[in-house]
Amino acid sequence: MCGIIGYVGDQSALDIALNGLRRLEYRGYDSSGVAIVGAGALRTARRAGKLANLEKLLAEGPDMDPMPGTTGMGHTRWATHGGPTDMNAHPHTDCTGAIAVIHNGIIENFAQLRAELEARGHELASETDTEVVAHLLEDELGSEPSAGADLAGANLAGAAAAGAVTGGAGAVVPPVAGAAAAGASDGGPGTHPLTSALRRVCLRLEGAFTLVVLHRDFPEVVVGARRNSPLVVGLGEGESFLASDVSAFIAHTREALEIGQDQVVEARRDGVTVTDFAGRIVEGRRYHVDWDASAAEKGGYPYFMLKEINEQPSALADTLRGRLSADGAIVLDEERLSAQDFRDVDKVFIVACGTAYHAGLIAKYAVEHWTRLPCEVEMASEFRYRDPVLDRSTLVIAISQSGETLDTLMAVKHAREQKARVLAICNTNGSTIPRESDAVLYTRCGPEVGVASTKTFLGQVAACLLVGLFLAQVRGVLYGDEVAAYVERLQRMPDLVRRTLDRLEPIRELARELADAKAVLFLGRHVGYPVALEGALKLKELAYMHAEGFPAGELKHGPIALIEPGLPVLVVVPSPRGRANLHGKIVSNIQEVRARGARTIVIAEDGDTAVEPYADHLIRVPETTSLFAPLVTTLPLQVFACELALARGLDVDQPRNLAKSVTVE
Ligand code: G6P
Repeated sequence: MCGIIGYVGDQSALDIALNGLRRLEYRGYDSSGVAIVGAGALRTARRAGKLANLEKLLAEGPDMDPMPGTTGMGHTRWATHGGPTDMNAHPHTDCTGAIAVIHNGIIENFAQLRAELEARGHELASETDTEVVAHLLEDELGSEPSAGADLAGANLAGAAAAGAVTGGAGAVVPPVAGAAAAGASDGGPGTHPLTSALRRVCLRLEGAFTLVVLHRDFPEVVVGARRNSPLVVGLGEGESFLASDVSAFIAHTREALEIGQDQVVEARRDGVTVTDFAGRIVEGRRYHVDWDASAAEKGGYPYFMLKEINEQPSALADTLRGRLSADGAIVLDEERLSAQDFRDVDKVFIVACGTAYHAGLIAKYAVEHWTRLPCEVEMASEFRYRDPVLDRSTLVIAISQSGETLDTLMAVKHAREQKARVLAICNTNGSTIPRESDAVLYTRCGPEVGVASTKTFLGQVAACLLVGLFLAQVRGVLYGDEVAAYVERLQRMPDLVRRTLDRLEPIRELARELADAKAVLFLGRHVGYPVALEGALKLKELAYMHAEGFPAGELKHGPIALIEPGLPVLVVVPSPRGRANLHGKIVSNIQEVRARGARTIVIAEDGDTAVEPYADHLIRVPETTSLFAPLVTTLPLQVFACELALARGLDVDQPRNLAKSVTVE
């Protein structure tokens, strides 16, 4: 939710910012903007709408290099406070036009701060919560406005409404007064005036924020801060990057540094210094990113989503690789709990949002079946508000692709405050949720750019199954050879996923045929029920179509009233081999909806002939173990939603109103 890139080095900051924003646009695409410091000026450009609008604005600028400078930053926005207009687009500047700020998150006490600032004579131009930070920094640094600043201010206020590039020679003003005028870190790294000022401002802010700030007179630094929102550092040769995630700088460096809670980072050409809000130097954790820029490219596909759907066999294989140690035990990635801690667990909660929540619903069947522990699955946004009963014997499993979803992070914090143990399943190394957890299992799916999750959902389901087996193993409910047999069967799943993807042309054709349908219902039983929910979510988010998922047995208790002639009803059928009792029931459910005129689309495994008489369309998937079936039955649903949205002419990578990483509650 909002993408941020900051840069200081020797390259064109505008190029770095725009390239970074191209990779971050999945985080929000309501507006975008850049600020560059160079040639004694701070220049900003911002525009409502997708990044292409900003690029057009810059291309139409008066000269070839409208924004010279090697220090700069860029922002792509998912609007919270203030509509998606040019004026509300980031960066935001102070009254003098010397300071620029970009922000991800929500500053909850902004109204009070704004009132204070206005009482002191500040003029705020936007409706955002962010702008207060620029003005608070202005007060901290004691900037003096100049004639040039007036001109810049006039440009900003007037022309920004049309999305103009502002600044230029007219914006050059003298250096700020006092100690800041030195513009250097006299007291050593981490003591730069802009860094110290940002620390003081952060202490006044409530809520969640990643901030990156620039100052016209300090081209030697770009400074960032974070609380409950993501910020990572890229460490290059003679250059440093600050970004919401590593994809923004991966083309330049794969060396990264985590920034912890309530920390400020001062980035310079020669390196970075991290301090807490009190100014004490802290050590960040360095790590090497194990994928390269090509992993975050479309690689010949017209959409990331199509690429990511096709990457599922390898994403799944990577998640499963090396999970069984030489002595046959399942290995997590980080374990800060003892085997005894896991043995003491008497209840499991799974918390997650969106697609990850559906992975959690699938996990419940496996965890309860294998471990005999009660397992509840809860939407993270609801979890802490209902005061769940937690103690040190509770294991909370938090599932999050990004590792930054604020609802999930807050659920994790609540769980830990109640002394529960937390295990994270996450796709993003260096993100907050794994850092706040006691144990971690990474889904090694590589970067996922399409806003609607596909490959990471499969990774999450596989990781949940591994966690279920891990718990069964440490608790002694399953013997080592039983666990190993399950893992071996799981390791055959990437091949089945590949074979399923190879035979999905019929569902693509059907999706195109149904492009004008008003609604679609999805039915399932057992693990097929969360798959049905996921199929409906995909169709909602990608095709903006009314879609609902139901347990097939629940249909007769109300939703069956929705059935009318021609309504497409997609049914996920359990295997007749493993779950014969369920299979018979769902065949009856198919007949019930068909008798009322529904057009049935049946997902069933090879050899299931019982469904044939009742399927208007039959989509075959390979035979597999019941608990592993979602790894294949989800695939036709992903492809159905994607193809239907494309047939409607929609952008499947960036559906309206959504963002991939949701860092507000
Ligand atoms: C957003 C995305 C969903 C995603 C959910 C959870 O709502 O649009 O696709 O499933 O966040 O994200 P997470 O990163 O926590 O898995």
